[in-house]
Amino acid sequence: MDKSEVYEKLLISAHALMDPACGTIANMANLTAAIQQEFGFWWCGFYLVNRQGALELGPFQGPVACTRIEYGKGVCGTAWKLGKSIVVPDVHAFEGHIACSSQSNSEIVVPVWKNNSVYAVLDIDSTEFSKFDETDRIYLEKLVALIP
Ligand code: SME
Repeated sequence: MDKSEVYEKLLISAHALMDPACGTIANMANLTAAIQQEFGFWWCGFYLVNRQGALELGPFQGPVACTRIEYGKGVCGTAWKLGKSIVVPDVHAFEGHIACSSQSNSEIVVPVWKNNSVYAVLDIDSTEFSKFDETDRIYLEKLVALIP
């Protein structure tokens, strides 16, 4: 199976997995697990905008990570500020990248929207360089849009 086919399969299972009767955290938690079951990335998780106006660590799978990221800082804070997904082939070349783990070499961050504003970001890290591309961006945007 190529990557698109894996994502197509994941979209179907994630759609079935999302539970509108439950809150955001429960659904985000299962979505990170579903992504990891297919891909086994180094780190996969959400940061949510908190009441202080910063990103705060949410449901994730992988090693411990930074708990708080300011608006406009790092890849996550930049994706939030721009309201756009960011694909980083080499995190060491991204100015302001926040290194939660020395093992991470590439990264993708996808904003999560509700009522025309970003309330969270999905962040995925890989130990491989250039792990993520447009295919990942397109499908991860579709996946986060499933969160009820
Ligand atoms: N690298 C991210 C920080 C979060 S960790 O990768 C889990 C960033 O620069 O925003």
